[in-house]
Amino acid sequence: MAAPDRPAIGIFDSGVGGLTVVRQIAERLPAERIVYLGDTARVPYGTKSAETVIRYARACASVLLKRGIKMLVVACNTASAHALAALRDELAIPVLGVIEPGAHQAVQTTKSGRIGVIGTSGTISSGAYQNAIHALNSAAQVFVQPCPLFVPLVEEGWTEGPIPKQIASAYLAGLLEHNIDTLVLGCTHYPLLKNVIGEVAGPRVTLVDSAESVADVVAETLQCMGATAEGLSSGNTFLVSDAPESFDRVGGRFLGRGIDKVEWVDF
Ligand code: DGL
Repeated sequence: MAAPDRPAIGIFDSGVGGLTVVRQIAERLPAERIVYLGDTARVPYGTKSAETVIRYARACASVLLKRGIKMLVVACNTASAHALAALRDELAIPVLGVIEPGAHQAVQTTKSGRIGVIGTSGTISSGAYQNAIHALNSAAQVFVQPCPLFVPLVEEGWTEGPIPKQIASAYLAGLLEHNIDTLVLGCTHYPLLKNVIGEVAGPRVTLVDSAESVADVVAETLQCMGATAEGLSSGNTFLVSDAPESFDRVGGRFLGRGIDKVEWVDF
């Protein structure tokens, strides 16, 4: 009889972008089994109301809970901003979001205390990053900018060249006038624009990638729970709520390698 699958880390996002978080967690914790859900039927979350995003997040969590997960990671910044508190209240397993780890890294990184945050319209208007940064350092000055065009640019693969650079220049001009020294990439898609954003922001601004910070928090939490996996991972599972072939095609760019198999789930 085959050995039962070890309990997995469940990760969800509105679509393909959360694979940037999977990539960091898989590199940091190669023995862990990951079950990823991309809610491709309902993407984007970034333009939707808090109530709607909370409803979607609950539905994603319940799909993953049925797959035997020991921890839930909300890879989507917008869902972390709106739904983390509700999921933490309602679920019996640890629930981690990307905003607290990103805010923590920003506060550790800044020297001037002047921090910029970019994200979807939903994330920025929720005030979640501003609150998380101020909870850690009440003297920090936080300047924010929604960048809604970045998500479709990345989805189209336009991550280099004059067009993304022009758009980044327009979005970042106001933040740079505030002399920020740290810029939080507060959206799953923005790590793929790191080169362009870095060029526009210049060498005096350090970019903080929330996806990198969350992998450390996942590792620490598993250790505290005594639930760290050992040996070789039995492989990862990728679920989507629509269009598996397009997830497969675009996903490789986010994950940094090909995706073995994508399963379509209806919920
Ligand atoms: N995953 C979303 C986020 O990190 C970006 C894409 C969307 O709007 O759904 O905020």
